[in-house]
Amino acid sequence: MTEPVDGIRAFHNAFRSDLERIDTAAFNSAKGKEGLDDTIGRFLFFNEILVWHAHGEEAAVFPALETVAPLVAEAYVIDHHGLDSAFEELSTSYSARDPLKTARATAAFRFHLNIHLDKEDTHLYRIFRERISLPDQSKALGIMASMIPQERFAEVVVWLYPLIGHDDRENMTRIWQMMMPAPVFAGVKELIRKAIGSDWAELTRRIPTL
Ligand SMILES: [Fe+2]
Repeated sequence: MTEPVDGIRAFHNAFRSDLERIDTAAFNSAKGKEGLDDTIGRFLFFNEILVWHAHGEEAAVFPALETVAPLVAEAYVIDHHGLDSAFEELSTSYSARDPLKTARATAAFRFHLNIHLDKEDTHLYRIFRERISLPDQSKALGIMASMIPQERFAEVVVWLYPLIGHDDRENMTRIWQMMMPAPVFAGVKELIRKAIGSDWAELTRRIPTL
């Protein structure tokens, strides 16, 4: 059965693969390859989503966790500030049009992000899943989802789906299908279909009610 935390993992995996892609482009650009500016510049949008995600965790997940595992979340807030610093360093280097500094900054950002997300998946969200009731988990996820400005939601769907595998797509789609009013979900479904092209067949095989 799909659980709320599966939706979080889908986003974590998308963050991992997007920053990997950006970092590879920055590395190749520093070595002299041209035409990668668009890929590298996508870190701005990537970070917007990362910040909504982190704020959602701080507003909903961390306070819930505090009631069952005091002082655990504090270390993760410090990590989030580290991500903010990594973004600032990247932003400054990119604006200065310094390819070497940009590549160093994407590498540092990627390294810190991966460690942070691995810790969240294996430690923080394990406690969350084991000690918080399913209804309260869903409530926290609902608050997180509300951090995405409504008018930007379509962009998030189009960003997310190509970056994740079949299992994550299935989980995320099932969660939205459960949480959203039917007319809203119908719109999201179309966005997903467009975002994944021929992979749509696999998603409908897994979720026949689509
Ligand atoms: Fe986080």
